[in-house]
Amino acid sequence: MEEASHGSPASKARSRGGPASRPGSRARARQAHDGAWRENVNAATRASFDRRVIVLPAEPPFGLGCAGKMANKAVHLPVLSGPGQTLRKDAWWVGPAVTFTILTSFIVYATFRAFENAHFSYGEYLSPFYSPLVETKTMGIPFLTPAMLILPFPAGFRFTCYYYRKAYYRSFAMSPPACAVGGIRQGQYNGERKLMIFQNLHRFALYAALLFLVFLWHDFYKGLWFGGHLGVRGGTVMLFLNCTFLSLYTFSCHSFRHLVGGGLDSYSTAPLGQLRHKVWSWVSRININHMAFAWISLFGVALTDLYIRALSTGAITDIRLF
Ligand code: FES
Repeated sequence: MEEASHGSPASKARSRGGPASRPGSRARARQAHDGAWRENVNAATRASFDRRVIVLPAEPPFGLGCAGKMANKAVHLPVLSGPGQTLRKDAWWVGPAVTFTILTSFIVYATFRAFENAHFSYGEYLSPFYSPLVETKTMGIPFLTPAMLILPFPAGFRFTCYYYRKAYYRSFAMSPPACAVGGIRQGQYNGERKLMIFQNLHRFALYAALLFLVFLWHDFYKGLWFGGHLGVRGGTVMLFLNCTFLSLYTFSCHSFRHLVGGGLDSYSTAPLGQLRHKVWSWVSRININHMAFAWISLFGVALTDLYIRALSTGAITDIRLF
């Protein structure tokens, strides 16, 4: 193609270094850069086997094309077989261990609160574990509490969340526990087609989560009215922060991003295409921080419940701000 175009206006412009030469130059520069990077990776990987240390070149392939290029190329890191076996020298186990500790603590605390069936409200405040409040005494089922009826919905949303899957596959199932670390049942991952096939219901869990946000924001509104007077107290602030963090977590969800516009092939021809593109752009911006919102909102729920429980038991008194 280079030969055939020799003498054309475009090739003359290229020889003069004009605008038409830039795409070709950029492509050649990109090829050279990526080729050099690939060579460095191969050399570093080979060396890592000898030195038992993994050192990858810091600079990724040309520009932001890194993710796309990497997605299509298999980069084989040296992985040893056997749970926890690795050539890595860093503290790779800290992340999974912290995740395991926090998630286990939350599950234990939420289970305790679901069975406790007491101290879930104070004045106009209602704990997020018991919202919306459903009357269970008349159902005639022993041990059934309002929290047991509603917690499966937010719990299902988190359990099927794309981020949390990574977190608990690593920290609980050790499948694998970290990058380039041997896991349990190495190489036997079935995707989410067998035991974990229900993970595909995440989009439906999202619909329930959106509904729960309405209940929780309504609880916040009620929390503004204490004894019939408008005001802001410590509990009001806790409810507000909890709703805000949960909203950020929910609206940064990958399924929500797909729902509002990610699933469209063409914004210009779709109904409300321009509006959906704007919403999709906004969701994409907060989607980047989905992991952070997942953790902050988890702490937000637990601390809001803890605050209301402490008020209800008389352990603390509410702070009046104005
Ligand atoms: S992907 Fe995490 S809540 Fe949807």
